[in-house]
Amino acid sequence: MEALNIIKDEHRNLWRIAITLEQLIAEMEADGKVDHAFLGSVFDYFEQFVDHFHHPKEDDFLFRLLRQRCPEAANVLDRLDAEHRNAPLNLQTLRDKLAGTASGRSPVADLAEGLRQYLAGLKEHIRIEEKDVFPLASEKLTAADWKEIDAAFLNHADPVFGEQAKAEFRELFHRVASLAPVSVGLGGRSAGELQAPAGQGDVLLSVSGLESSYGRIKALKGISLEVRRGETVALVGANGAGKTTFLRTLSGVQPMGAGKIVFDGEDISKLRSDMRMRRGICQSPEGRQVFGPLSIEDNLRLGAYTQPKTQVEGDLEKVFAMFPILKEKRRLPAGTLSGGQQQMLAIGRALMGRPKLLLLDEPSMGLAPLLVEEVFNVVKALKAQGMSIILAEQNAFSALAIADRGYVLETGSITLTGTGRELIADEQVRAAYLGM
Ligand SMILES: Nc1ncnc2c1ncn2[C@@H]1O[C@H](COP(=O)(O)OP(=O)(O)OP(=O)(O)O)[C@@H](O)[C@H]1O
Ligand SMILES: [Mg+2]
Repeated sequence: MEALNIIKDEHRNLWRIAITLEQLIAEMEADGKVDHAFLGSVFDYFEQFVDHFHHPKEDDFLFRLLRQRCPEAANVLDRLDAEHRNAPLNLQTLRDKLAGTASGRSPVADLAEGLRQYLAGLKEHIRIEEKDVFPLASEKLTAADWKEIDAAFLNHADPVFGEQAKAEFRELFHRVASLAPVSVGLGGRSAGELQAPAGQGDVLLSVSGLESSYGRIKALKGISLEVRRGETVALVGANGAGKTTFLRTLSGVQPMGAGKIVFDGEDISKLRSDMRMRRGICQSPEGRQVFGPLSIEDNLRLGAYTQPKTQVEGDLEKVFAMFPILKEKRRLPAGTLSGGQQQMLAIGRALMGRPKLLLLDEPSMGLAPLLVEEVFNVVKALKAQGMSIILAEQNAFSALAIADRGYVLETGSITLTGTGRELIADEQVRAAYLGM
């Protein structure tokens, strides 16, 4: 039944787009402005992903077998099939309306209304599949049916359903997310290729008794923490807990009062920050801190200043492959990027230093909820490639959800530690950080 999870995942992406578009419609109606590039990309996504990929996959396997096993499902399946058939035409109508607003032939209100209807239809369609069809399928389809369905969904060599197709849609989705207006933003998955050294699971970083102060105020009161190779470790805590101070002390830009840092088998407690960077500790700072007047490409090159010149062009291409929107805008000043795009740039810049340990300081800060998800998906993609990561976040739930392990920091001390799952389930954490 793995196929059902894949479809549900795809539904979640579509649902996010729908919600985002609804927000956009309201803005569009308020100021009369239409974002043609963004809407065009979303329509491309609907056409290429939904109409040519998502629907046929459901029709050819899930719906077909369910019809055979369960004649009483015919009614609901007839309806869904008809909606699948009509979808391309409905989309074309929307494209016409969009073109109409560009040339001034048709009013924005027309496009807004058309979009609203389209989205209402899409959401209702998803609702029916999830509420009526999936439970029925779980109940009526046989093990052999699921084998056939799952094989179709998971067959990596298949040109339609395989890995290559998935990567393509990830990129398309990422494009939509990157173009999303600042006020909204979208979730999605990001493909990536930056390969970190293969993880052996041994200890990469071991910090003990770390202290750091601002004048007489001790911001870190003896922190001990460990990161294994390939691990994503979340450092969660409220505003002012000391997350940033910890990361800055680790990368050497903030002086440490006491303690010891062993990285990759070497005591680096006394090393300068640039030497730590050369060893592979690279940080994406809080608040992104990109250099606004410099071009995007030059910002990325700055991240590689400790690296041999010969590898920079290749690494640049890898970062561009991961964040296509940065490539498109490479010559523009970084200050022209939206908040979400600047966050991608800050992460890309850290990747240019070829990290063995990537430090991310509140990458989701100040981003719209759906863009937050896109950033966490980038972190997931890096993790999947074997990167070791410390993720400092006030957004505890999202961070713990993707982390292998987590540490809870309160006013300079670690008060709790455990696997991401344990911490999410912990009453104290739920009460204090998750607002539950
Ligand atoms: N430059 C500074 N000078 C003096 N005190 C500072 C300075 N920076 C941070 N602090 C203090 O150190 C403590 C830890 O701050 P820090 O910025 O590390 O927390 P944080 O967990 O990163 O918070 P946030 O989630 O808001 O980013 C706080 O009490 C803060 O007021
Ligand atoms: Mg901070």
